[in-house]
Amino acid sequence: MSRTVAPPRASTTIASLRSLGYDLPTALADVIDNSLAAGANRVDVQFTFAAADSSVLVIDNGKGMSPEELELAMRLGSKGPLQERSIGDHGRFGLGLKTASFSQCRRMTVRSIERATGAVSTRRWDLDVVEREDEWWLEDDAATPTADTALSATPQSGGTSVLWENLDRVLPSPNDPAAHGWFDNRVKTTIEHLGMVFGRLLGGQGRVAIYVNGTAVKPWDPFMQTHDATLRLPEVRFAVGETVVRIKGFVLPHESRLSSAVHRRGAGPRGWVSQQGAYVYRNNRLLSHGGWLGLGRVEQRYHLARVRVDFESDGDMAWNIDVRKARARVPDVLKSALRREFDLVKARALRVIRHRGSATSPSDSRDDNTWVWQVLEREKGTFLQVNREHPVVTAFLATGCGDTDPEMLLRFLEQALPLATLQAVLTDAPIDHTGGHGSRAAVEEELVATLKNAWRSLVAAGLPSDVALERLLGVDPWRSLSGTREQILGELDG
Ligand SMILES: Nc1ncnc2c1ncn2[C@@H]1O[C@H](COP(=O)(O)OP(=O)(O)O)[C@@H](O)[C@H]1O
Ligand SMILES: [Mg+2]
Repeated sequence: MSRTVAPPRASTTIASLRSLGYDLPTALADVIDNSLAAGANRVDVQFTFAAADSSVLVIDNGKGMSPEELELAMRLGSKGPLQERSIGDHGRFGLGLKTASFSQCRRMTVRSIERATGAVSTRRWDLDVVEREDEWWLEDDAATPTADTALSATPQSGGTSVLWENLDRVLPSPNDPAAHGWFDNRVKTTIEHLGMVFGRLLGGQGRVAIYVNGTAVKPWDPFMQTHDATLRLPEVRFAVGETVVRIKGFVLPHESRLSSAVHRRGAGPRGWVSQQGAYVYRNNRLLSHGGWLGLGRVEQRYHLARVRVDFESDGDMAWNIDVRKARARVPDVLKSALRREFDLVKARALRVIRHRGSATSPSDSRDDNTWVWQVLEREKGTFLQVNREHPVVTAFLATGCGDTDPEMLLRFLEQALPLATLQAVLTDAPIDHTGGHGSRAAVEEELVATLKNAWRSLVAAGLPSDVALERLLGVDPWRSLSGTREQILGELDG
């Protein structure tokens, strides 16, 4: 067998690498991810407008890189998705630094000072050179005098600076009289984006600070957690393979409860309607914001509903995240559970709108039928009551036990006793549907057993079998069953 090494042609590969779909805010966020992964607790971004000589500079105080590490970091695909990453690591494909930078500029210079040794190194990609010579020429210590001045701000005690020049994508017509205003606008959008994406990492207990042109980026909390009128649903946990996904719904306060300034800030970058839906976080870093992840339509009436979805980097495979870290796909096993959680939050959001802002309104709407036990707030106190509208209870009331075991009704009520919900409501602790990993199978087996019984009684009461199953999987205590419908249908037939 004869074979030839056939590396990709530099000049043409560059063009596709530049077009992965980043914009300025997402590209910058990707560069900042590296800073945070390197342990930086301060990142300074400097936007400088100077027509064709405009630049963007990112300086961090992380652990820096040795000259060898920097050279490796500058290569495409330096550390692949199969390598294990620490929890604080926001990287994934070993591409981000290059693809993000090339999406915005034609010349990227990186200087790093290794904290451990003080070693200083500088490397540069110049796409004009790569294209002209059709070779991957990585330049050593080649900074121009202006670049050198900018990069001299790299902390002597350790850190890394990334400089973007020749910003052909940010400023396609740098000499246009409108260019400066346009650049400033982009900077504003970028600040907003960084405040959202890194919101949970910013501020708080002396964690991370990001400055843009000297001003600290303010975190933006999509869930308005500091507001009294925000409604928090209990956190729900699901096991997906080896990892755990945490889901928490929020219903934001009705407009009538907010000052106009707070209402405007609460809207977020794309406005109240578009910002409804799921916010997916990986290691506390926001990956996608707004929309229902392909599990429902964005509608005006759900504009107060937002859901926090959390996973760690060990869930990367399951979530199928892309190079830009701007898209994550819902794992199949999670779809029905997630849809049900979304439906609950939407229903609560509708109620808040109907009652013009009262978050704890009388329990009069249909969404309460998903709960076996209803919590009633009355003048005399709080009461628990079995929900007579729950499909299983309705069937019992209509037909009695029929052929099924009366013991089943008791087991059903026991299983559905909302201890965790009550605990969560009282203490804000999470509800655990993972069964602590170990006992999960046993818990599921027990749930499937009562599901079978309940399903039989619904079918005996005249419901078509698939409709009966659909209804049961939508209500407590079976909402958490992660098995697919087909699997469960198969078991029920058996
Ligand atoms: N600011 C930085 N500080 C220290 N190391 C860095 C920095 N930026 C990049 N690196 C190193 O370069 C590697 C490649 O970065 P990148 O191309 O963004 O891919 P990824 O983040 O997916 O690994 C990182 O894994 C890291 O080791
Ligand atoms: Mg990276």
